[in-house]
This record gives sequence, C-alpha cells and structure tokens, in this order.
Amino acid sequence: MFQLKNVTRQFGKKIAVNSVTFNIPQGQMVGIIGRSGAGKSTLLRMINRLNDVSSGSIHFGDLEVSSLRGAALRNWQRDCAMIFQQFNLVPRLDVLTNVLLGRLNHRSTVLSILNMFTREERIMAIGALERLGIEQTALQPAGTLSGGQQQRVAIARALMQQPKMLLADEPIASLDPLNAKIVMDALRDINERDGITVVTNLHTLDTARNYCERIIGMAHGQVVFDGQPQDLTSAAVAEIYGSGAELDESMTSTSINIPAAQDNTKSAGVKPLALAGL
Ligand SMILES: Nc1ncnc2c1ncn2[C@@H]1O[C@H](COP(=O)(O)OP(=O)(O)OP(=O)(O)O)[C@@H](O)[C@H]1O
Ligand SMILES: [Mg+2]
Repeated sequence: MFQLKNVTRQFGKKIAVNSVTFNIPQGQMVGIIGRSGAGKSTLLRMINRLNDVSSGSIHFGDLEVSSLRGAALRNWQRDCAMIFQQFNLVPRLDVLTNVLLGRLNHRSTVLSILNMFTREERIMAIGALERLGIEQTALQPAGTLSGGQQQRVAIARALMQQPKMLLADEPIASLDPLNAKIVMDALRDINERDGITVVTNLHTLDTARNYCERIIGMAHGQVVFDGQPQDLTSAAVAEIYGSGAELDESMTSTSINIPAAQDNTKSAGVKPLALAGL
C-alpha cells in the first residue's frame, strides 16, 4: 500500500500541491488529470523524491519515503521508476546502453564507472526491448529514433530497474495518436502482467478514461476528484478543469482510439541476442 498524508509543496509563496491525501493499493493503474499548473508533475516528483515535500508524509508499506536519505533514497528511486514527456534518454548513446543505464542503481560503483554490464544484464535489456517491440533498434543512437520509439526505450529502461511502481509524467503528450496508443498499451501491459502500480499524469481525459481504473483530478494543488472513470460526470470534469463554458471534452481528448495499431518497427531476420554482442 502506498500512502500520501497531507502532502504539501510550496515554491516560495506558491502552493503547488496543497494537503493531498490518498492511498494506492499495489497494482492499481491511476491517472492524474488537471489543468496546466494544477500540481500534477510536482506530485509525481515528490513521490519519487525529485522534489522534497514541504510538509506531510509519503509511505510505501513501512517505508517513510518522504524522509529517506542516502542509499535508502537511491534504493527508493530504483523501486519507483519514472518516465517523462521528453523521454530523458542520452541521445548519442545507443539504445541498448540507454536501457542498461536502468541497472545503475543495482550495481557496484566500480562496474558502473567502467560501464561494464554483465551478460545477464544485456540479455535482460534485449528482453525488455523485445517486449516493447523495438529490439531491432538496439545499436542505433537513441536520438535517431522516433518519439514513440524513444518513449518505448525509456519504458524498457524503467523495466530494467525492476520497479515496484512506475510513474509517468505526460508520457504521450509529445506523441501522435498511433504512438500514444502503443505507449499506453505498454504501460497497461506492465500494470496487468507484472502487477506494477502505474501512476500517470495525463492531459487527455479520454486516455485516462480508457486506460485507468482510477482517476484523480487535481485543481489548484488539491484533489477535487478521486474515483472510477464512470463516476467522472460532467460536473466533476467542470470542477477539475474549471467551469468555463468553453470547456468540452473534445478539448481534453486526442483520437487515441484508433483501431489496430500497426507496428512497422518489427523487422524480420534480426537476431536480438546477436545485437547485444552475445
Ligand atoms: N521548481 C519550481 N519553482 C517554482 N514554481 C514551481 C516549480 N515547479 C512547479 N512550480 C509551480 O507549481 C505549480 C504546479 O506546477 P506543476 O508543474 O506541478 O503543474 P502541472 O499540473 O504538472 O502542469 P502541466 O500540466 O503544465 O505540466 C505551478 O504554478 C508551477 O508554476
Ligand atoms: Mg506537469
């Protein structure tokens, strides 16, 4: 069980997140929605401790996440992987190495400095790329991939952390509808098959409705809705996004509901393990 209790974050006089309290049982897929500036990113960043809380506490089971320091904090950041709108890959490094970087917190400093990865780690990295359907890109510089492929690399890197929780901050905001669907399907698959809790900020209401069993709506730093997609009435939507008459659901939606996603990144005849030098 993951718990936030009265979590608040101030930047100077600005209260970005204001006394947020909720629990997330292990294995839930949660979407966080709200207008720009509502505090969604700040909330996620406090969960994996890219930002500290100003007050309140965050617990994962018996662990008080919000007060961790040193090695315990690094262990938490390994257990709580995060992906971002802009992918945050190292563009000049090849895809395989980018994915292997997800192992850094699992390894000794010496091996890390030497940038040496074991055969098992390389096999694991290729497995992660295969799962995301992009193993044939393993030796390309990450910066040469399309946005959708780069986000899949970022997810593969996150999987290498063998996380208990996966946070995603607007993971599809820079992607076209086809790639958005591929990335959201991948997050759902990780949630369902691996039982990993997924918490994702989403700009688009329809994506949250389609993929998340629970939706948390934020406005002005506070939680103003917490429920299932079917409970998200137009009154609730108005409270989250503001009651401006100009708001309708189309403003907050993309056409992610395209039929069969055709994945043309698979190429026949490539031997993934050979790509990893194995
Ligand atoms: N490092 C910072 N320093 C000062 N103010 C900040 C900082 N980070 C966030 N804020 C402020 O906190 C508020 C919440 O920001 P946050 O980025 O969490 O919103 P958001 O809901 O993620 O918005 P968006 O949908 O645009 O990503 C905003 O008013 C923002 O300007
Ligand atoms: Mg944000």
